[in-house]
Amino acid sequence: MATTTLILRSLLVFAVVAISPGNGARYAANWTSIDSRPLPVWYDEAKIGIFVHWGVFSVPGYGQFSEWFWYWWKGAQRAAEVGFMKKNYPPDFKYADFAHDFKAQFFDPDEWADIFEASGAKYVVFTAKHHEGFCNWPSADSWNWNSVDTGPHRDLVGDLAAAIRKRKGLHFGLYHSLYEWFHPLYLKDKASGFKTQEFVFRKALPELVNLVMTYEPELIWSDGDWEAPDTYWNSTEFLAWLYNDSPIKDFVVVNDRWGNGCYCKHGGYYNCEDRFTPGSLPGHKWEKCQSIDNRSWGYRRNMKIIELMDLPTIIEDMVYVVALGGNYLLNIGPMEDGMISPLFEERLRGMGAWLGVNGEAIYSSKPWRIQTENATVPVWYTSKNNTVYAILLAWPSKLLFSLAAPKTSEATNVAILDNPSVSLKWVSTTPTGLVVVMPDNMPVSPGRGWVLKLEGVE
Ligand SMILES: *[C@@H]1O[C@H](CO)[C@@H](O)[C@H](O)[C@H]1NC(C)=O
Ligand SMILES: *[C@@H]1O[C@H](CO)[C@@H](O)[C@H](O)[C@H]1NC(C)=O
Ligand SMILES: *[C@@H]1O[C@H](CO)[C@@H](O)[C@H](O)[C@H]1NC(C)=O
Ligand SMILES: *[C@@H]1O[C@H](CO)[C@@H](O)[C@H](O)[C@H]1NC(C)=O
Ligand SMILES: *[C@@H]1O[C@H](CO)[C@@H](O)[C@H](O)[C@H]1NC(C)=O
Repeated sequence: MATTTLILRSLLVFAVVAISPGNGARYAANWTSIDSRPLPVWYDEAKIGIFVHWGVFSVPGYGQFSEWFWYWWKGAQRAAEVGFMKKNYPPDFKYADFAHDFKAQFFDPDEWADIFEASGAKYVVFTAKHHEGFCNWPSADSWNWNSVDTGPHRDLVGDLAAAIRKRKGLHFGLYHSLYEWFHPLYLKDKASGFKTQEFVFRKALPELVNLVMTYEPELIWSDGDWEAPDTYWNSTEFLAWLYNDSPIKDFVVVNDRWGNGCYCKHGGYYNCEDRFTPGSLPGHKWEKCQSIDNRSWGYRRNMKIIELMDLPTIIEDMVYVVALGGNYLLNIGPMEDGMISPLFEERLRGMGAWLGVNGEAIYSSKPWRIQTENATVPVWYTSKNNTVYAILLAWPSKLLFSLAAPKTSEATNVAILDNPSVSLKWVSTTPTGLVVVMPDNMPVSPGRGWVLKLEGVE
């Protein structure tokens, strides 16, 4: 019975698309049409998000890219994970046994929301389901492999969504992996060369629709798409439904991982590869995801402090991304008990303190006509209306500081965001540029990075 019901259910949802008349723009199930949808504006204005990787993989919490633990151990049979299991667990121990120890006993979603809010982020993206297939919500299509049937016995997605939504400035998004390494139906479809779509119709699509209808996420961060074409995943059909008829059609934002060859090409905003780091201004809205622990997205008990991004590096990376028109999605991996390592918390609060002073140059900004220049210290530009922000990633060693790109006028006013009511003296240079008389003392920065606010420049 299950099979027929499930297939009927997912087909039904999409069938509605075809017959519903709807209002406004109708998107067809092809990329030309899907790609023509304007990106909801909240996303570009938000600029900063927090990515959260949490699942059964947080229990072993071990090795490079710990969220791939099951695959490293049983798929790739990587020496580190195989050895770790031999040394620490009985021979008959299965990956599924880790779920019993995913207890989340200290998980307080309000505490998480406090930290995320204090980080200055405007959205949160939480792993509803990673490649291991474990659902952090009570999915009916994932019997006994979800956070209510086993482990925490709690709807982690729902509880976090509720806490995030109590904060006015925070949007709630969900990460969802299309593929599952070891799901029997997925392996069956794969063996058919992705000619059959049993996994898609019985697992991936019903769960995606269930997430949309139950939690109404404002962002869907799709992943795990790369082994199969988008036609296998029925991605354009799903997105047409999402954009035309879902309850979140007016504000939902999606990324670009919807099938082999899609990323950097199709979808909403572009993630391209992990930690995408373009050298010049991309022509399409994009996002860089970057983990504070550069060697893992999931929590890693064996991480060392030198492997973590320090606050100045985070600010530098964020400023570069925003100057090039991107959003910055900074990742943390909570521990299996629901605690966020105080080290991660310190970085997040540090970023928030910096944004508290300098956020005017970040939120809702646009790339300027020039994104960076070689001044005596590294400088990145952003802009908002007629204001240009020059973000200095080091404090200049001389009192007189030159910028070559801005063209001054009689209306030009220069200030530093640490003390914006005081105008700084400046003289123009030719043909463009200005020399600013910097304050005598370096303002105490809650990071490393100072912002010159230039009004009345071109
Ligand atoms: C999946 O896509 C195919 C075309 O690629 C279409 O015939 C079928 O109706 C779609 N199914 C659903 C449930 O969207
Ligand atoms: C996409 O769908 C629209 C509307 O049905 C159609 O006009 C257009 O030709 C299609 N484009 C492609 C490339 O199939
Ligand atoms: C993070 O790791 C990647 C390679 O995995 C490397 O290219 C990059 O420079 C590292 N970044 C930092 C800030 O350590
Ligand atoms: C800055 O200088 C470096 C090294 O000389 C050069 O590669 C780079 O293109 C310059 N950048 C700009 C924006 O002028
Ligand atoms: C900046 O421009 C936007 C439209 O681009 C406008 O809505 C906003 O009010 C302007 N802000 C200021 C401070 O002028």
